[in-house]
Amino acid sequence: MTNKIAERVSRVLFSAEQISKRAHEIGEQISVDYANGAARDTQRRPPLLVCVLHGALVFMADLAREIPTEVEYDFISVSSYGNGTSPGAVRLVKDLERPIEGRDVLIVEDIVDTGYTIDYLRRGFAARLPASIRICTLIDKVARREIDVQVDYAGFPLEQDAFIVGYGMDYRELYRNLPFIGVLKPEHIR
Ligand code: IMP
Repeated sequence: MTNKIAERVSRVLFSAEQISKRAHEIGEQISVDYANGAARDTQRRPPLLVCVLHGALVFMADLAREIPTEVEYDFISVSSYGNGTSPGAVRLVKDLERPIEGRDVLIVEDIVDTGYTIDYLRRGFAARLPASIRICTLIDKVARREIDVQVDYAGFPLEQDAFIVGYGMDYRELYRNLPFIGVLKPEHIR
């Protein structure tokens, strides 16, 4: 069996080139939008990009460098209980390091799937009275939504029900370092 993780992928859904092009487009759009009215911070501080660890780390790093105007970063980490008894329950693992009151917050996610995670984050952030909250996700699994959440920036809609890995996204903590997004061969899923 090969050690190379790229060879464990049966199908590439989004290549590194496609992702890079899309990150560039979204970065430009974000910059234009915040210059043209999306910014609500009365103190005119830069938008705060909040990376949802660990899945969004790679996208956040690329996206941020495609935004040609000022931004600041923070990081948050959540996990799903996923025990079947409380579907959609989300637990805070690591909180933001700074207050967001009065700030323009842009949450950067890898995937919005059922919508529970982003809904949890949006509600939790709203209670801290930011000036605005927007959501950016690389992959929007539109067909799997259980909670109605507004996504402001979506890299790629994914209609099919596929479990994907790469470009930050994992299967059992592996494959985050693939430069593209793909589907694993069945023999690599336990
Ligand atoms: P939601 O709460 O159901 O919207 O799930 C969002 C989170 O589930 C994402 O941030 C991912 O961490 C994880 N997730 C959902 N679908 C996939 C997938 O296909 N591959 C890897 N992680 C996924």
